[in-house]
Amino acid sequence: MKIAITGKGGVGKTTLAGTLARLFARDGYTVLAVDADPDANLAAAIGFPEDMIQAIAPLASMKELAEERTGSNGTYGSLFVLNPRVDDLPEALSVQCHGVKLLTMGTVDKGGSGCVCAENTLVRRLMQHLLVQRNEVVIMDMEAGVEHLGRGTAEFVDALIVVVEPGKRSIQTAKQIKELARDISIRNLFVVASKVRSEQDVIYIQQNLTDFCLLGAISFQVALVEADMMGRPSVDIGGEFLNEVQAIKSNLLEALAT
Ligand SMILES: Nc1ncnc2c1ncn2[C@@H]1O[C@H](COP(=O)(O)OP(=O)(O)O)[C@@H](O)[C@H]1O
Ligand SMILES: [Mg+2]
Repeated sequence: MKIAITGKGGVGKTTLAGTLARLFARDGYTVLAVDADPDANLAAAIGFPEDMIQAIAPLASMKELAEERTGSNGTYGSLFVLNPRVDDLPEALSVQCHGVKLLTMGTVDKGGSGCVCAENTLVRRLMQHLLVQRNEVVIMDMEAGVEHLGRGTAEFVDALIVVVEPGKRSIQTAKQIKELARDISIRNLFVVASKVRSEQDVIYIQQNLTDFCLLGAISFQVALVEADMMGRPSVDIGGEFLNEVQAIKSNLLEALAT
């Protein structure tokens, strides 16, 4: 099962991704969490200890590995292979904690003008491999957009979850993501309402995003802000929050089974 999570910055994507990863792992699934946001902080949300977080080297920073795998000599314009071997990388480069394996992609230069440096090639190739060839639960924490999901891999994404908070700006981002997703034919587009303070907030989101399927809602919890301040994983706050994410997970499994 391949789940990609996107949405405007700060809405709660990483909180949801980290918690879902822990809940799937608790249920006995093999979980590979992928931090594909340049502003990488999924490790903390999952509950990795500080020393492990400090030691994480994102794939995009591994220049030597990228050059070795692609055969690039690192100089501008040099020729290199576009389909380097990556199948050993999830095992070699992931770090594991609380039953969750984590891969951190780092910042790839989007460039726009077809920048094809070796590191970008390696990241793109690995994302493709994770989506197409791996058969565990893959949970991808992304930035606002679908850059990492190019044509050819989108069909392997079982669910694209757009996290939305009550507010015009995050609604607008969700609509833009929907357009991008349609362009690359992503099928299952879901929305999770985040930071809601009342039933009215959920209705607001539903009414503004009528063509999305609502998987569930996460209430605004001061405890989540505090957990982030303490560097504690969101799963630890338990209570209503965990029930809500549990319900989202069940609804997702049900939606994908039908
Ligand atoms: N339901 C919620 N209620 C209150 N605060 C939340 C909630 N979800 C996330 N947050 C807080 O909002 C901030 C951003 O959350 P994060 O998951 O990192 O967002 P994103 O990954 O979308 O940028 C964090 O401080 C987090 O603790
Ligand atoms: Mg995030």
